[in-house]
Amino acid sequence: MRVFSGIQPSGNLHLGNYLGAIVNFVSLQNKAECIYCVVDLHSITVWQEPSHLYKNIHEITAGFVASGLDPKKNIIFNQSKVVEHSELSWILNCTARLGWLNRMTQFKEKAGKNKENMSIGLYTYPILMAADILAYKATHVPVGEDQKQHIELSRDIAQKFNTDYKDRINLLTKNSEFFVLPKPLINGPVPRVMSLRDGKKKMSSSDLSDMSRINIMDDEDQIFNKIRKSKTDSGIIPSDISELDNRPELRNLISIYSGISKQSHQNILNEFSGEQFSKLKKYLTDILIAEICPIGHEMKKLISDPSYIDSILLDGAEKARAISKPILAETKKIIGLA
Ligand code: TRP
Repeated sequence: MRVFSGIQPSGNLHLGNYLGAIVNFVSLQNKAECIYCVVDLHSITVWQEPSHLYKNIHEITAGFVASGLDPKKNIIFNQSKVVEHSELSWILNCTARLGWLNRMTQFKEKAGKNKENMSIGLYTYPILMAADILAYKATHVPVGEDQKQHIELSRDIAQKFNTDYKDRINLLTKNSEFFVLPKPLINGPVPRVMSLRDGKKKMSSSDLSDMSRINIMDDEDQIFNKIRKSKTDSGIIPSDISELDNRPELRNLISIYSGISKQSHQNILNEFSGEQFSKLKKYLTDILIAEICPIGHEMKKLISDPSYIDSILLDGAEKARAISKPILAETKKIIGLA
């Protein structure tokens, strides 16, 4: 079992990254060989302020370590340091089909009506993601629910490559398959953390309103204010879990509560049913502060020592390259480029 996953350094590390991905990363570190990548090349598919980008790369790395990922046990690095990602990505551009990319819902959502003005990179982004995963022959990819379609695309690309080059693969490797078909692991505590301002939108570092998210480095007052002002409806807390279906903001707060406290949705409803939102919000604020603020403090400490973070990334890149370089070399041989 080899695990690969990535997080984009496109702004603040927030609760969605933490509950949707990092908590899962931490629990996998004792069960498998894990490779965790700060996907900086993905982040530049939309404009990134150059003076912020490197700081954001450091922030994600510090977030990984502060959340409990051991840089000795896991390979932690940033994507642009390992050229194999970009090179394999080009090769896979030639395997993937236009029709497959045209079905990607994330591109449609991000581009909206503005498709013609988006970067080509945003469109081919899932192919770079496939290259990230296939360059390591990763077997499992822990992601949030929204990335499932991209993992399926990675499988399709791997499958097509294996079929297109079947004879060469047989000849050169004595195996019938070359790339491994990766499986998504969607069992983070909360597969989809939503915005605090709109329960139908994903919590995101690119949301213009900082009130829409809890950043891992937020202080106690910020967390208190953001939860207090988070959008709710005018009802009371129900006891029946099916009521959450039509109340997205309530569902989101209960999901966050559940992710942090590790209690089931139903248990939480049992505790708060018949109450106003204010009580739920007060308890949620307390557990969030208790879990998130120590991680934020640790992140700030780590970030204040940039040479330490750089050494983690450099060491990780060397280890990552030791795996991906021979896989790319073999890929090129299979194609006939070498
Ligand atoms: N696209 C992912 C996201 O936005 C990030 C990502 C890039 C990724 N490469 C990956 C996740 C490889 C898993 C595996 O969340």
